[in-house]
Amino acid sequence: MTRAELKNVPTPCYIIEEDALLRNLEILDSVQKKTGCKIIMALKGFAMFGVFPLIRQYLCGVAASSIDEARLGYEMFRGEVHVCAPAYIETEFDELLGYTDHIVFNSFSQWDLFKERIARRNRKIACGIRVNPEHSEVKVPVYDPCGPFSRLGTTRENFEENELDGITGLHFHNLCELNSDSLARTLKIIEHKFGSFFNRMRWINFGGGHHITRKDYDVDLLCSLITDFKKSYSLEVYLEPGEAIALNAGVLETSVLDIIHNKMDIAILDTSAAAHMPDVLEMPYRPAITGAGLPGEYPNTYRLGGMTCLAGDIIGDYSFPEPLKTGSRLVFQDMAHYTMVKNNTFNGLRLPSIAMRKSSGEVVIVRKFGYEDYKNRLS
Ligand SMILES: Cc1ncc(COP(=O)(O)O)c(C=O)c1O
Repeated sequence: MTRAELKNVPTPCYIIEEDALLRNLEILDSVQKKTGCKIIMALKGFAMFGVFPLIRQYLCGVAASSIDEARLGYEMFRGEVHVCAPAYIETEFDELLGYTDHIVFNSFSQWDLFKERIARRNRKIACGIRVNPEHSEVKVPVYDPCGPFSRLGTTRENFEENELDGITGLHFHNLCELNSDSLARTLKIIEHKFGSFFNRMRWINFGGGHHITRKDYDVDLLCSLITDFKKSYSLEVYLEPGEAIALNAGVLETSVLDIIHNKMDIAILDTSAAAHMPDVLEMPYRPAITGAGLPGEYPNTYRLGGMTCLAGDIIGDYSFPEPLKTGSRLVFQDMAHYTMVKNNTFNGLRLPSIAMRKSSGEVVIVRKFGYEDYKNRLS
């Protein structure tokens, strides 16, 4: 589809690129094929169920962090469903087990609370403990699961080796958008702290945060780390990235609604950092826009702001070769992951539509949102 044809797509709209998804899936599959590991998709990062049939051709299951993600995986993905959460809710637990193949406990107290209910099930459910290596690779504290006083995972000090009856696996997660050198350092610590329990396990989950599909990611190092690990310990290795599945696999197409001036030019868009690209404020980061540059790089610089009342609903300052005007289209890059799954309807803003650009070039709008979606979250 050409830019001119894209003009027919209503904005705001996420457009997911089938070819880009396929490219990512091929890379992930090459890791599976080279190493014999299993890669599952973390639904917290990307849960567009319309493309589950495509993803299922490459990945054997999903990683869920709640009963609703587990149910979505069970009903719509139909592969292995692995669950890992800081704690489980007693009244939901039996239903959760109905969707689950692997369940990971964050603490031995949670394992103790729920193990009998798992033993009573007819179906075999693999149980694991999340360990915390207390080794930080992530520089932004809000995204570091292994920083001081972290609640995420059992530290070596709290690891109860006499409570492992029924536990068949270990899980760790300490990366975020990182390369395989970070995994290499982490694995050394994991082996040092928890290696003496490996012979009592059948599987280990290396968590998410592996930016495997990024251009500069060292896939060969990842493969050799997994292969060596499997050779040394004969454990089934799982990885559960989210972002890597949908990295650079979709854009957010938006329109300029108004241009105002307050000591600088300001464009108000039909989207919002706060509601439609929350990581821009939370991470924070500056999303790339097709054809735009840093302030001053091109002749026309604007502050881009969203539609909510939040003063800080600012996406950033960008420059453009041509002046923007009402109706100009702006395309935010890399908007498939951690957007649809995190969005909100603050100020009653409609969620962006979701479209798919198929390999054939055809763009299909797969979902539009309306008043009912806003109303259904309230009472
Ligand atoms: C336990 C766990 N697994 C997997 C992921 C997915 O991480 P990413 O999308 O960065 O690959 C996360 C992200 O926070 C996580 O907490």
